Amino acid sequence: MYFGIDIGTSSIKAVVISDENEILAVADSPLKVSHPDKNFSEQNPTDWLKALRKTISVIHSKLNLQQIKRIGLTGQMHGAICLDKNSKLIRPCILWNDGRAIKESNDLNSLGDRFTKLSGNIAMPGFTAPKILWMKNNEPDNFSRIDKVLLPKDYLRYVLTSEFATDSSDASGTLWLNPETRKWDNELIKITGINESWLPEVFEGPDETGMVSSSASKEFGLPRVPIVAGGGDNACASLALGIYRPRESFISLGTSGVLFYVSEEHQSNPDKTVHAFTHALPNTWHQMTVTLSAAESLSWLSRVLSVKIDDLLKNLLSSKKRNTEVIFLPYLDGERSPHNDPNARGLFLNLSSSTVQEDLTLAVLEGVAYSFNDGKDALQESGASFKEILSIGGGSKSEMWLQIISDSLNSVIQKSDSSLIGPSLGAARLAMPFSESNFISEPVNKVFEPEQEQHSYHADKLSKFREAYKNNF
Ligand code: XUL
Repeated sequence: MYFGIDIGTSSIKAVVISDENEILAVADSPLKVSHPDKNFSEQNPTDWLKALRKTISVIHSKLNLQQIKRIGLTGQMHGAICLDKNSKLIRPCILWNDGRAIKESNDLNSLGDRFTKLSGNIAMPGFTAPKILWMKNNEPDNFSRIDKVLLPKDYLRYVLTSEFATDSSDASGTLWLNPETRKWDNELIKITGINESWLPEVFEGPDETGMVSSSASKEFGLPRVPIVAGGGDNACASLALGIYRPRESFISLGTSGVLFYVSEEHQSNPDKTVHAFTHALPNTWHQMTVTLSAAESLSWLSRVLSVKIDDLLKNLLSSKKRNTEVIFLPYLDGERSPHNDPNARGLFLNLSSSTVQEDLTLAVLEGVAYSFNDGKDALQESGASFKEILSIGGGSKSEMWLQIISDSLNSVIQKSDSSLIGPSLGAARLAMPFSESNFISEPVNKVFEPEQEQHSYHADKLSKFREAYKNNF
């Protein structure tokens, strides 16, 4: 048996698969995000460990964990966990959707082409390096204590094995790794003024990085087995879907929205805010665009209207409404692709006294779909050529949403029932004895074809959506 653990933003998820690559057990425990100030987004890593203990105990009630042979890790990307010289946490983790490091990202981008050429990416506040520079400028005492900087899943690795290690797909989102060489880059480390000794060793996804220690084995109830490097959550979601060959793609409708595309090689387009990262298998690369509030936009609407998400969707479905004048910009936490603008904000436009709940729900689903349109255009301008696009993430449970995405992108969207398990499954598969055949494609259960009449409606609304951003930010 193989075990995959995902430190998600909304929950810790775990899956156990058999030696034959079949899912045997899944469990998850919820997590909260705190927003202590404008543009701030944080979690306390000790809450991850509490939630992990709960998740493991649920799995333990279903099967014998002693049969696990290896463990794979994945998680939310870009978060900065800083440890002092006694390996104690210095402060809460600054998350991937945190927008405080605006000045620091601008400073890095003003270094010019050499910086973006080496890092393959434009600096965005959610990435790791600008956050550490923010600490330098705003929390000098905390900054002076830094001895190690770890990504979320790599902090968990440290807790479980006492080893400092990462993998290249997750490390691509720090701006200290050159995705072309798949190694830390001395020049990037120097430019950003950090110490190389703060960074963990970089491995490829299937490599072993250490063993569960005896103390962690007792604390978490895990056997003393090797842990593999794993990958960033989007790379592992991709492996859960069997997507690693060039030109394969998927959409993730989770807290964030991701349009993910496997490129032939490292291919960057920083001007278009394309994330050009390594994939979690050796010698593979991918590009993606990121919408910071995708399914989170619908959760937000549910919270402010005090109507459950399922009811919002049911009400919209039974109203048969497919068009609305209302436009929604989903920039509740600012936006990465295509604007790289942490100060962008969510917006409803064209409200009238005849606007009803269903207009708002539809506008939210459409606004997120339009953000994927921006992502698709950016990726196409960077050389991507899309075939069918698979879907994954909590939001993809809504067939109505997938149809809207298909209509607006004018692309075939596929849905697989097993795709809801997500990144933890990719991490568990990375823990199996390595073979590309572990990364099997999930069976497609439903296909959404674009309807031309709806496509014309969305094409018209998309230009209004883009105009609304230009006019307001
Ligand atoms: C990717 C990104 C998000 C997080 C969410 O660049 O920031 O998708 O990984 O977990």
